[in-house]
Amino acid sequence: MTDVRPYVVGIIGGGQLARMTCAAAIGLGVELRVLAEGPNTSAAQVARWVTVGDYTDADTVREFARGCDAITFDHEHVPIHILEALEADGIAVRPGPAALIHAQDKAEMRARLSAMGAPCPEHEVVADAGELAAFGDRVGWPIIAKTSRGGYDGKGVWKLDSADQAEEPFAALADRTTVEGGVISSEGVRIVAEEFVDFARELSAIVVRSPSGQAVAHPISETVQRDGICVETTTPAPGLPEERATEAQRLALRIAHELGTVGILAVELMERRDGTIVVNELAMRPHNTGHWTIDGAYTSQFENHVRAVLDLPLGDPGARARWTVMHNVLGGSVADLPAALLHCFARDPKLRVQFYGKEVRPGRKVGHVTAFGDDLEQTLARARHAAGYLMGEEGWADQPLIDGGNR
Ligand SMILES: Nc1ncnc2c1ncn2[C@@H]1O[C@H](COP(=O)(O)OP(=O)(O)OP(=O)(O)O)[C@@H](O)[C@H]1O
Ligand SMILES: [Mg+2]
Repeated sequence: MTDVRPYVVGIIGGGQLARMTCAAAIGLGVELRVLAEGPNTSAAQVARWVTVGDYTDADTVREFARGCDAITFDHEHVPIHILEALEADGIAVRPGPAALIHAQDKAEMRARLSAMGAPCPEHEVVADAGELAAFGDRVGWPIIAKTSRGGYDGKGVWKLDSADQAEEPFAALADRTTVEGGVISSEGVRIVAEEFVDFARELSAIVVRSPSGQAVAHPISETVQRDGICVETTTPAPGLPEERATEAQRLALRIAHELGTVGILAVELMERRDGTIVVNELAMRPHNTGHWTIDGAYTSQFENHVRAVLDLPLGDPGARARWTVMHNVLGGSVADLPAALLHCFARDPKLRVQFYGKEVRPGRKVGHVTAFGDDLEQTLARARHAAGYLMGEEGWADQPLIDGGNR
């Protein structure tokens, strides 16, 4: 008798991305082990194989990786030297450190993308406030300044209106407590200055690549960020000409191939008012702008991520419906989310909801809703209604059913 064992994947980080990856792994019969920051994190609540430990400790990560067919990520903050050591041990790290550095460090990302001719805003790594002010004087104010590492959800991004504010990012670096949660903690954090792109909108190009080089591209999404946090996506991006959409997909596929990424690569894009696109940044893990794929695509980003890290053939990334709208549920005045489902589900039987098992705190991502349908306005209205209601925003509870709408 042959000894049959399941595929074993280790995911580092226990947030909601790992939680949703667990759901995909369950469907595939894959054993997903989670290295979680705490016993009650979003993924640790639902995974059967959980190690609680510090992902910045080399021994912890090495021990966790033992017996895994591949190691992958819920976030991009694992120190590169630890991942290089894993690779030296013969562990399949996917994406590998040579690619991941471009999602971890925005200065590395800008340098590499510029070298390969990918469209970027004007940018420069600046050493001090004087250089930052000189950059602003050269490209024109306002400008954007970013920490090269450790930022998330807009933390570590500043819009500066004049040279008077050029000290701000450097002061934040010196006094790291001003960046919430002490996220900016690693050595080698630099400040990247960027031209302020007066974009018409933001787009997201999500592709999946496997180690053997197969790659697929999801349709392009329009994404809306508020206070640096993704709040809504619409897929396909309304009004985006087909040749522009194809151009964005090709760009993301080219970046995936040149960097040798494995799994999801999300390319955050800004569409200028003349219709041309520039890259904002890269993520090499399932991405918030890809959550619509759980209900709206033939194969979700989470499933294809798992398939890719195991080098299995990838699933169809296409959309099932004409329009799919995902709206994040950010912590608001509704603490009892489960109870609030009554209204949402009674009103809209086709609505899809995911909660992340996180305690409601103001502005925190605690879940998302997805609506799909043939009519863009109605689909948007349904998603916004449900998310607005779950966030306790005024006025949603007494709105009538939308036209044609108990669907
Ligand atoms: N050069 C720019 N010009 C105009 N707006 C910008 C620029 N760079 C970033 N932004 C805005 O700031 C947001 C956050 O920037 P960025 O994605 O670099 O930060 P982040 O904290 O890494 O975000 P994430 O939550 O995606 O990890 C962008 O989505 C965009 O709205
Ligand atoms: Mg971003």
